[in-house]
Amino acid sequence: MDYLEIKGGNPLHGEVRISGSKNAVLPILAATLLTEEQCVIRGIPDLSDVKHMVKILEALGASVELTADSITVEARQLTPIGDYDIIRKMRGSVCIMGPLLGRLHEAKVSMPGGCVIGARPINLHLWGFRSLGAEIDLKEGYVIAKAPELKGRSIFMGGRNGSTVLGTANVMMAAVLAKGETVIEYAACEPEIKDLADFLVKMGANIKGAGSPTIRIRGVEKLHGAEHTVIPDRVEAATYAMAAAATDGEVTLLNTEPAHLQAIFHQLYQANVSCTVRGKEVTIRRKGPLKPLSVATQPYPGYPTDAQAQLMALMTQASGISIITERIFESRFMHVPELGRLGARIELEGVSAIVEGGFELQGAHVMSSDLRASAALVIAGLVAKSTTIIARIYHLDRGYEKMDVKLRKLGADISRWNTDSNYPNYRPIPSSLALTDE
Ligand code: EPZ
Repeated sequence: MDYLEIKGGNPLHGEVRISGSKNAVLPILAATLLTEEQCVIRGIPDLSDVKHMVKILEALGASVELTADSITVEARQLTPIGDYDIIRKMRGSVCIMGPLLGRLHEAKVSMPGGCVIGARPINLHLWGFRSLGAEIDLKEGYVIAKAPELKGRSIFMGGRNGSTVLGTANVMMAAVLAKGETVIEYAACEPEIKDLADFLVKMGANIKGAGSPTIRIRGVEKLHGAEHTVIPDRVEAATYAMAAAATDGEVTLLNTEPAHLQAIFHQLYQANVSCTVRGKEVTIRRKGPLKPLSVATQPYPGYPTDAQAQLMALMTQASGISIITERIFESRFMHVPELGRLGARIELEGVSAIVEGGFELQGAHVMSSDLRASAALVIAGLVAKSTTIIARIYHLDRGYEKMDVKLRKLGADISRWNTDSNYPNYRPIPSSLALTDE
């Protein structure tokens, strides 16, 4: 099992290039199923979730070719049945339903499971498909959608926690080949939805208003192949910005989309951190002592839930009381007990975490539980005194490209080891930090 060893205390300095967006590339790869012609997607991040989506496309019958940072897909022959085992392992794979329904008028995928951050229901996805004329069955762990015909109409897609990103993506991909006009009301406004729509329009789709709460889609007969470069990953950018501020360093983020980072810049500004934008680059550094914050996560353009854990790690360094409220997912505080092992003083009160910041963190052996919680532990490890071991970092590899390499280039004392002696980077966890139940 891979683990990270971090010797904290080094301020980060230098430049880091932000990779392509995980949450843009997954639905865009799914959208390549909507045509039998060749699609080329560029700016692909090297992530395990992307490799997983490639396996899903191949299991559906598509031919896929990967290069260092591009993926070519040709979905000539397709089966509407997603591989049960591969699909259930990655929740984001639910976004193949829309394209399968749009192209084949049929989709059979394993019910996407929940995960540690929440139940992750798909009722809104299914509501959208039903609204377009699909019949939905749940059988033996599969979700089966069938539609003799897909007919456009106005669909309200708001749920109890607001808009749904992949729900909007799914309905948009089912609607591009439907008859007539589909209007998605209360659509997700995330940049990843706009990026997906830009790709679909390049394929010949007729979409207006993507990125706003109302998206109008006029169905077309067929879609053709297209080429597209995905947008930069705004969550990766936010993560390195928090790490730079937490370590009291000065880091320039390259290949960002500053327009997608306004909520991040706003909170960092309130925390006494400067974010200097020059084109696609942003330089992050403290203006003085960090200030505590009160933040609630919201759908875009509000403060993103995917950067909540990282902000919490930063706030352990701000003297005073910070309040971080999670309004999107019902249990996205798995990082709190692990941050506590490093000495962070955080109390949970319902959907809010109360952080008493300004105390030194001490290195310890901590456990990753999910993707963004792992990022929070890395940030905390970078500032903690002595050594931090972060186990189960396969969670991190899902959404961060070569994070240890990028951080080492910024001056972090971080290395990646493996407890399995068959690996070249084999090294047992130092006994002083090994856990008996590891
Ligand atoms: C996307 O997940 C992202 N994943 C998540 O990023 C992100 O946290 C989330 O959007 C919110 O921004 C990808 O794009 C692959 P939602 P998604 O549907 O679309 C409820 C990361 O760390 N809901 O927008 O699955 C849901 O329970 C990941 O990169 C319903 O009630 O999230 C949640 O409370 C984590 N019914 C809220 O809506 C539904 O049918 C928002 O979820 C769908 C969602």
